[in-house]
Amino acid sequence: QNLLREALPGAEVLIVSNREPYIHNRSDGGVVVQTPASGLVSALEPVIRACGGTWIAHGSGDADRETVDERDRIAVPPEAPAYSLRRIWISEEEQDGYYYGLANEGLWPLCHIAFVRPVFREADWRAYEKINERFAEAVAREAQTDDPIVLVQDYHFALAPRMIRERLPKATIIAFWHIPWPNAETFGICPWKERIIEGLLGCTILGFHTRFHCNNFFETVDRFVESRIDREHGTVTLGGHETFVRAYPISIDWPPKALAAQPSVEECRLQTRRSLGLASDVMLAVGIERFDYTKGILDRMKAVDLLLTLDPSLKGRFVFVQAAAPTRSRLPTYSRLQSEAQELAREINARHGDESYRPIRLVIRHHEPAEVFGLFRAADLCIVSSLHDGMNLVAKEFVASRDDEQGVLVLSSFTGASREMAEALIVNPYNIQEMAEAIGMALRIPANEQRERMRLMRQRVRERNVYRWAGQMLIDAARSRQQRRILDIA
Ligand code: G6P
Repeated sequence: QNLLREALPGAEVLIVSNREPYIHNRSDGGVVVQTPASGLVSALEPVIRACGGTWIAHGSGDADRETVDERDRIAVPPEAPAYSLRRIWISEEEQDGYYYGLANEGLWPLCHIAFVRPVFREADWRAYEKINERFAEAVAREAQTDDPIVLVQDYHFALAPRMIRERLPKATIIAFWHIPWPNAETFGICPWKERIIEGLLGCTILGFHTRFHCNNFFETVDRFVESRIDREHGTVTLGGHETFVRAYPISIDWPPKALAAQPSVEECRLQTRRSLGLASDVMLAVGIERFDYTKGILDRMKAVDLLLTLDPSLKGRFVFVQAAAPTRSRLPTYSRLQSEAQELAREINARHGDESYRPIRLVIRHHEPAEVFGLFRAADLCIVSSLHDGMNLVAKEFVASRDDEQGVLVLSSFTGASREMAEALIVNPYNIQEMAEAIGMALRIPANEQRERMRLMRQRVRERNVYRWAGQMLIDAARSRQQRRILDIA
């Protein structure tokens, strides 16, 4: 936290993201505040709480729209205001094009290797351009100085860095791409590849989770845009403007806020088992995320199925809980996944269970952070089997939740997190046999070995927490601001 304050004393900080940190919805005559299931939000919220500033995001709840004007700032978090939230309202038609269309049917499957074909439509692209422009205008309107630090988040805003640069030439613009960046051949599928690259190269610093994604980006720029690339120093120069490209592995708050009010691990174990109607000694595996096809949810259910076939002695003694938050459900790929998972859970439960035993519990609803942490603490193991994932913060949150130093993490090798968490049981989620064996093994790891593995992972996540992620970017930003001042004086 100190790193943040030291890096940029007095600078004005603005965040631009699609997802807002608090969603206000009407419910039973009142208003409920929801914390969205989003890795981006869980990482950035503690950062802006610590350094203050303004967060500009799409207003997605139904409770504020009629009462809050786009120009109104709201002080958040409600219980202890630390920064301002400025919402941008987007029409349903614009949302269809910009968010569902270009961002989630185009760029999301383009950047994740999950073998879902990206869809690109001209009308979606136009909506995407328009919304990026609207957010860039909001940044210019909101900025109180001519050289703010603007943190532009994710694939929803690839064009915004250049648009902001045109309005605020002296701004320090840091763009962070929260999802993987594919190789040049794959990115070449995108009809607007040059525009996206040029848009991103409007920023001062462009961050990815891993070195590997940075290399893919360099390769893509090299293939499609006339520019000067200096791989040694990690820079790309386009039209006289230099962008610094670097890996900043994202992380979580340590200790996470949601941990503070948790009962003891023993209490969580008992409460969770009681609420699921399970005996206190039943072994529990959990999976918790958005219902997204990149997360490998079907694959891990198949692994549980195979495990119960390979080791029938686990029947009645082992249960897998999949908590999945509905997400982007208007898109057919997402709604189909939900019905497929429900069908598969029914099949597996019929195959291995009876009236008193259901090995798979699929809970499709939003879970607030306190509930998520309660589940993590109750579990014997957590399965993160993403087919492809930039980082995956669920893996880090699971480890952070286990202050008892127990519990095993089964982790896909296709997550950025697997590079930092070698003590997890690393699996290939496409290999169901391997995953089933890993889950079986996780259930047999003795307490002392669990402790050794967990201790090392916890130590690493604690050290490489989200303040370090943001602090490192801000230190690089401070360096670039200093260089610019020297050049201005000269
Ligand atoms: C990923 C993306 C985030 C996004 C989150 C939730 O983590 O990188 O930008 O907020 O998914 O998705 P949603 O579409 O609900 O915002």
